[in-house]
Amino acid sequence: MKRMEWSENLALGIALIDEQHKTWIGHLNDVSTALSSAQGPTQIAKTLSFLIDYTGYHFDSEEQYMTKHGYPGLEQHREKHAELRQTLTDLQTDFDDEGATGPLAKAVDTFLGNWLVQHIQDVDQEFGTFLKERGIELK
Ligand SMILES: [Fe+2]
Repeated sequence: MKRMEWSENLALGIALIDEQHKTWIGHLNDVSTALSSAQGPTQIAKTLSFLIDYTGYHFDSEEQYMTKHGYPGLEQHREKHAELRQTLTDLQTDFDDEGATGPLAKAVDTFLGNWLVQHIQDVDQEFGTFLKERGIELK
């Protein structure tokens, strides 16, 4: 598939989160490449678990900053993260059970990419605006 690229329309203007989103996209591309170039199952499993680990780290990080700064949208945002955490766990189970199937590749290429773009442009943007309005810088 076409590699997903970070671009300015995904920018929150919050450097720390923007950098994490770039890294996340990198991990997503790694999984996609491993699947589409039919790399061995070990390589696919490895990229998938890097993606899952990084997603957990990134979501935890956003949620911690939301908690720290008293963000009112925390619970709603946490629910969206929880849904994707579950989706990723399901994908990993599917991969463990059935290997690199077409539907798995499609879920990675289409669903995850779209989810990310939509999530960033919608709810992450709202958090970015909240921080900027208060002049809060994340470190
Ligand atoms: Fe988020």
